[in-house]
Amino acid sequence: MKILLLNGPNLNLLGEREPHLYGNQSFEDYLEILKKDFPEISFIYHQSNVEGELINWLHQYRKTVQGIILNAGAYTHTSIALADAVAAISVPVVEVHLSNILAREDFRKTSYVGAKCVGSISGFGLESYRLAVEYFKRRLG
Ligand code: DQA
Repeated sequence: MKILLLNGPNLNLLGEREPHLYGNQSFEDYLEILKKDFPEISFIYHQSNVEGELINWLHQYRKTVQGIILNAGAYTHTSIALADAVAAISVPVVEVHLSNILAREDFRKTSYVGAKCVGSISGFGLESYRLAVEYFKRRLG
């Protein structure tokens, strides 16, 4: 099973960015743990601070992966183009967030992207990604 992990803006700074909200671990380090814990899954990982690049990857991988885990960062709350891209592809997309977006500022309570995903996982730190992987394992495995 192939899963695409897609991280949006500022998530390249995980580990040093606002650690009280997002923790001390880099995504690259966490990904190594995920790969060890799920040897049967082949993970493809991309991160970009550019909205169009995220959209291009959704298009590019739409026929070659079985699931997509998307943390669109702040584009979650602003990008209709990204939401349209998720709606345009038939591969299931799970929205994830490290922080609990419902417990933060009001503008974070709207997720254009999440409205087009099969579901959302928010508030479990990096373990939000693991929960999404578990979902795909059960759904597709
Ligand atoms: C985030 C939540 C977003 O509101 C924020 O803009 C981020 C990170 C999260 O993972 O908690 O960049 O997506």
